[in-house]
Amino acid sequence: MLKKINTPFTEMMNIDFPIIAAPMFLVSNEELVSQASEAGGIGTFPALNYRPIEKYAEALKKIKSQTKKPIGVNIIVNKSNTRQNDDLKVALDHGVDLFITSLGSPKDVIKEAHKNGAKVFCDVTNLDHALKVQDLGADGVIAVGAGAGGHAGPISPLVLIPWLKTRMQIPIIAAGGISHGSMIAACLALGASGVSIGTRFIASKEAQVDEAYKNAIISSTPEDIVMTTRVSGTPAAVINTPYVQKLGTDLPWAFKVLKENKLTKKYMVPLIHLMGMKSLEEAAMKPTWKTVWTAGQSVGLVEEILTVQEIYKKLISEYDESVKHLSGLGLE
Ligand SMILES: Cc1cc2nc3c(=O)[nH]c(=O)nc-3n(C[C@H](O)[C@H](O)[C@H](O)COP(=O)(O)O)c2cc1C
Repeated sequence: MLKKINTPFTEMMNIDFPIIAAPMFLVSNEELVSQASEAGGIGTFPALNYRPIEKYAEALKKIKSQTKKPIGVNIIVNKSNTRQNDDLKVALDHGVDLFITSLGSPKDVIKEAHKNGAKVFCDVTNLDHALKVQDLGADGVIAVGAGAGGHAGPISPLVLIPWLKTRMQIPIIAAGGISHGSMIAACLALGASGVSIGTRFIASKEAQVDEAYKNAIISSTPEDIVMTTRVSGTPAAVINTPYVQKLGTDLPWAFKVLKENKLTKKYMVPLIHLMGMKSLEEAAMKPTWKTVWTAGQSVGLVEEILTVQEIYKKLISEYDESVKHLSGLGLE
């Protein structure tokens, strides 16, 4: 039996290990979420993985039948997500314990979640945004650093976490580039109360993405990860496949002009998003040469496809070993 790791985050969520299986568009399915929670961490998924909204309610019901432990939902809180209020309500009706907000203001989510005793953690990439959400009443932040899969921040986690720590009173969860237990120990040493891991779980038995995507996670190195604005208009990390190389990593000139223009911006931003999501969906779910696969630099340490529970066990025993190693170094 593995010993618990106690942090302010595990105490707040009543879980054994401060390891979130991060919400991943197209990747986080019911089994991945419930197995992460059953492993003693906390499984989360983006509400928008399920369309239409009825499928989302069904997914929540299924997850709740597979685990009684806490689970989390990610709500994208920018204007292009027209479902956010409904998604929040459905989640609260199903007893979701944790909300992760990204890409906008979490004000309404915090207000409604707190009425139901749920906690809200907000994705941030710098101190300014972190202080804003702290003032709004967020329960914690997820510090998304350089090297992350999805919309990575520009700052090294080595700097980002201690920087946020200087002014934050709420727990900080480290995200970006974590796929080995020694990295969890490092993040806790920096002052984080937990970690949020995405890319590692793409190469899990539970993830229902195409095998070619999982194998690409195993065979890629950190040098294969490039940032592109072609997926959503905001820089996102993808594997530099021949198709990505052919497309280029910048939006075509005309798209950029229309995206910045006051009159056309409101149509272009959702359009770019929609086109990007469609290409991600095609690449993730079936064999195609149009491979746009989201992943972060932690691919470099992913060597095999394991079950979610095996991944948790491996991370925790690696964590244990590195803590022992550090204590062995001691101070004479
Ligand atoms: C395939 C993939 C899809 C993602 N989709 C989302 C998403 O829908 N919403 C979100 O807030 N973050 C999303 N992320 C970011 C993750 O929640 C998390 O911040 C990130 O994966 C952490 O970095 P890591 O991949 O290096 O572990 C995604 C990441 C990946 C790899």
